[in-house]
Amino acid sequence: MEHPLVLRLKAFQKEASLELERTEQTQGLQELKVRFLGKKGPITEIMKGLGKLDATERAAVGQVANQVKEQLQQALQQKLEKLETQSLSEALAKDNLDVTLPGLPPPHGSKHPITQTLAEVELVFLGLGFKSYQGPQIETDYYNFEALNIPANHPARDMQDTFYLENSKYLLRTHTSPVQIRAMEKDGVPIRMIAPGAVYRHDHDVTHTPMFHQLEGLWVDENVTFADLKGVLTLFVQRVFGDQTPVRFRPSFFPFTEPSAEMDIGCVLCEQQGCRVCKQSGWLEIMGCGMVDPAVFAHVGVDSERYTGFAFGMGIERIAMLKLGIPDIRLFFENDLRFLQQF
Ligand code: PHE
Repeated sequence: MEHPLVLRLKAFQKEASLELERTEQTQGLQELKVRFLGKKGPITEIMKGLGKLDATERAAVGQVANQVKEQLQQALQQKLEKLETQSLSEALAKDNLDVTLPGLPPPHGSKHPITQTLAEVELVFLGLGFKSYQGPQIETDYYNFEALNIPANHPARDMQDTFYLENSKYLLRTHTSPVQIRAMEKDGVPIRMIAPGAVYRHDHDVTHTPMFHQLEGLWVDENVTFADLKGVLTLFVQRVFGDQTPVRFRPSFFPFTEPSAEMDIGCVLCEQQGCRVCKQSGWLEIMGCGMVDPAVFAHVGVDSERYTGFAFGMGIERIAMLKLGIPDIRLFFENDLRFLQQF
């Protein structure tokens, strides 16, 4: 004759199994688990009372209680897995989802055309032994103007109207030329340096944005001449725009170079036939350049009797527009993906 508690356990097991079979929702399973195996469930209750039984009874009832508990635990787990698989395949069927299709590739970005152009230009000069320097975009009047031989009230400041900070103590640099000064102060001469980076001017139209990028260059040593300037810059043009690109140097003025020149290249759009971009002249201006003015050397303590050098500065947006055939500079900074995805 089995112990009445064993009979009770077995009856409960049968009842519970039936109820489990009827349950079709994972949520219902959670409730059943609490009822069957929880603190107030019959199994727990019987196990708590085991102490009151004598040793043989205790062993027999305890064993059955454990078996029932384990069996129900397993059954609950199996049912849960079954219901989950079922609801997943139902969802898949409903959405008409084919899980064997290859995934969508995540969209990936590309380098901005200005970054690309800057890297290409830098590479030419790095290949010629120039070293790259970075200067601050927030400058002092001294580095942006004074040390470059542009005294206060000089008319050349009009061309580079800028943005001032903290009662004119600081300003946003209008060109990368201040990095010439910083580089010579830091490392002295001889020096062969470039300085890429953002510059700022009070300007906004089809060919000007308030922020744009320049690449500065400086080569100072004994016996550096205007012929070196022409050689290096012509080589640069040939590398970036092609071997056959015509170049010319026109006299110009910058307070920090003497003599100064503008470098032009034959119009890359019309092959010098004359078009809207070159204003029918066949030529495009691409950079300012010249021999370092002795007044600049004086500011950094370089002996201008012994050392000479040339400097140049070009606008990267302009180079990119000509190379890539982009008509409006503002396109670079609108961040329209339809534009950016083309490069
Ligand atoms: N800094 C000049 C400008 O922004 C360009 C330049 C650089 C000219 C170096 C001569 C030498 O217009």
